[in-house]
Amino acid sequence: MAKNTVKLPGQVPSHIAIIMDGNGRWAQARGLPRLAGHHAGTENLRRVITACVDFGIQYLTIYAFSTENWGRPFEEVQGLMGILEDVIDRELKELDSQGVQLRHLGRLDGIKPSLRQKVNNAVEKTKNNSRLVLCIGFNYGGRDEIVCAIQNLIKDGIKPEDVTEELVSQYLFTAGVPDPDLIIRTSGELRGSNFLIWQGAYSEWYFPATYWPDFDKQELQRALEEYSKRDRRYGKVSP
Ligand code: IPE
Ligand code: IPE
Ligand code: MG
Repeated sequence: MAKNTVKLPGQVPSHIAIIMDGNGRWAQARGLPRLAGHHAGTENLRRVITACVDFGIQYLTIYAFSTENWGRPFEEVQGLMGILEDVIDRELKELDSQGVQLRHLGRLDGIKPSLRQKVNNAVEKTKNNSRLVLCIGFNYGGRDEIVCAIQNLIKDGIKPEDVTEELVSQYLFTAGVPDPDLIIRTSGELRGSNFLIWQGAYSEWYFPATYWPDFDKQELQRALEEYSKRDRRYGKVSP
């Protein structure tokens, strides 16, 4: 499919991050189990990735499982792990052929070895792709990421006076990825829930009421149109 099939007005974000929220409520509204919502959310992710490729977005970051999500019922946690494993098995080839580079954000320890190996393999296999960088926050927490960065800075013997914002950024899971321009949280919740708390310092936020499984290409375009009207001042004044 051609790039930019839809003409977008004004500034286009190079990096979009999404808190894919509302799977459970989507399912509940249909009298289905929560896992059915997670399955529907996964199918939607496929569509949104393709839409991002069409719109010429360079980086897409998604929040798939937070460090706090371990506190959900055992069956739901197991189900979510299984879904990720299935997605990698099913989609890796297609994502690779679309030129998608996969990156993992989060800690892989604590995740079962077979899944860990699949994630590492997917990252390795796609590392030279450059059409879209897809960062997957899985067992990801913004505070945990900063703790991990501090631990590694200390391990590397970095002197206090050498710690700069740029250096800290290089120690985060997102090292080398530009900060998100736009963070979208679906489902109408108005909070960040431990997502990209360092990188999102100057991101624009967008909160559609739509549950994640229904957030389609048209909704994404609406988000991009809204973004194009934002005046990003970074603490300064407009020219
Ligand atoms: C987001 O949907 C997916 C994950 C957190 C894994 P939820 O499961 O949080 O859906 P709601 O918020 O309960 O509707
Ligand atoms: C954030 O959603 C995590 C993901 C979407 C993976 P949650 O549904 O877990 O967040 P809270 O509990 O509403 O803050
Ligand atoms: Mg939720």
